[in-house]
Amino acid sequence: MSTPVTDMLEGLKKDRVMFAMPGHKGRLDLTDITEIDGADNLLHPSGCIMESQKMAARLNSAAHAMYSTNGSSACTSAMIGYFGRGAKVIAARDFHISAKNAMELYGTRPVYVGLKDMCKPVRTEEIVQAIEEHPDAAGVYVTSPNYYGRCADLTALAALCRRRGMLLAVDGAHGAHHPFSPLLPVSPGEAGADLWCASCHKTLPAKNQAAVLFCGDRVDERRLKRRLAAVHTTSPSYPILISIEQAYDEMEQEGTAMTEKQQAMIGRFLEKIDGLPGIAAEQTDDFTRIVLNVSGRGLTGFEAERHLSGAGIYAEAADEDRLILISTVADREADFARLAGALKELPQAGGRGGRAVYALEKGEAGEPSWEQTVFAYPPGVPIVLKGQRRTEKQERMIAQMRNKGYNLLEW
Ligand SMILES: Cc1ncc(COP(=O)(O)O)c(C=O)c1O
Repeated sequence: MSTPVTDMLEGLKKDRVMFAMPGHKGRLDLTDITEIDGADNLLHPSGCIMESQKMAARLNSAAHAMYSTNGSSACTSAMIGYFGRGAKVIAARDFHISAKNAMELYGTRPVYVGLKDMCKPVRTEEIVQAIEEHPDAAGVYVTSPNYYGRCADLTALAALCRRRGMLLAVDGAHGAHHPFSPLLPVSPGEAGADLWCASCHKTLPAKNQAAVLFCGDRVDERRLKRRLAAVHTTSPSYPILISIEQAYDEMEQEGTAMTEKQQAMIGRFLEKIDGLPGIAAEQTDDFTRIVLNVSGRGLTGFEAERHLSGAGIYAEAADEDRLILISTVADREADFARLAGALKELPQAGGRGGRAVYALEKGEAGEPSWEQTVFAYPPGVPIVLKGQRRTEKQERMIAQMRNKGYNLLEW
């Protein structure tokens, strides 16, 4: 892939005078421009941005790609909106809060597919059953990979949706790297999904908020674009735009080799920590998501996370049992050596016992009901949903989660 937006920026006069936004006039960052002459327009791309998006679509096996400088949060909203106001959508219950917000905005009638354990991916059989029971649904919405690096069977789901005349939408926020190596799980585009998104900033060497919304050939691109525009800034950040295309450019050229190197590095790291008492690497479908269960050390994941940050090492997230670590091609051998060293130093605590509490329910409506959606951030998956029937069991679970150290938010 070439880098047309980057090239356009490099071609701009360095001694330019700006009587245009942004107000810093290039003093903070010369690449931070607005839609001046020749810079194209993300809302109606016809020049360098259009070229760049076309290449991104090709790399991701999509018919169309639309850059988002508002992260995947804008893309999940566009996907839910695409199904239409008041549409019935079969939704795997481990969706991100941004999808829940969009469902409220669009009056979506979700059919929740229950997931008891939010570490595990949605099972195809659960979706099949929901489709049997709701043949009038407009489509299926799943999150894959999930926060724990587990993937749904997207190929099976895409084929199923096609047979039933439904659209498959995939929140692939955590899988932006998947198209670039055969060592990684199949990407939504390769699987035949209709709508999907990827947060380049999560798993590619790209800046925060860099994301892309994709669609296949069964989707009306213009309608999808309108849904994205409804939640997207009209002043998109060019530094973010060029970080998307530069990350894709790098991955197209070197992604396969870099991912192989990364896999070998992670393999060496896992060997190094293999003998450490009380720390166990959990199974993931994506080797770049490293999930370490530290409960055998008598610690919660949150406590282990604090020990690591004390040593200047920052995990993506933690839960009551685990540390969740994101590896990308930007990692270095020395980083893993430091991590292994810090894990070795984790104290052995007295033991904690107790079972994992973060359990999701389908969320049937009923009285008395929750007045707010409650979720832990990260990972941003709602525990209970506004309007869902409120039970004592859920109240106990939420109280326990608070005690265990989850960062709980209510919206
Ligand atoms: C599964 C999932 N979807 C969507 C999002 C939103 O992505 P972004 O941060 O790019 O807006 C997140 C954020 O963590 C996420 O975990």
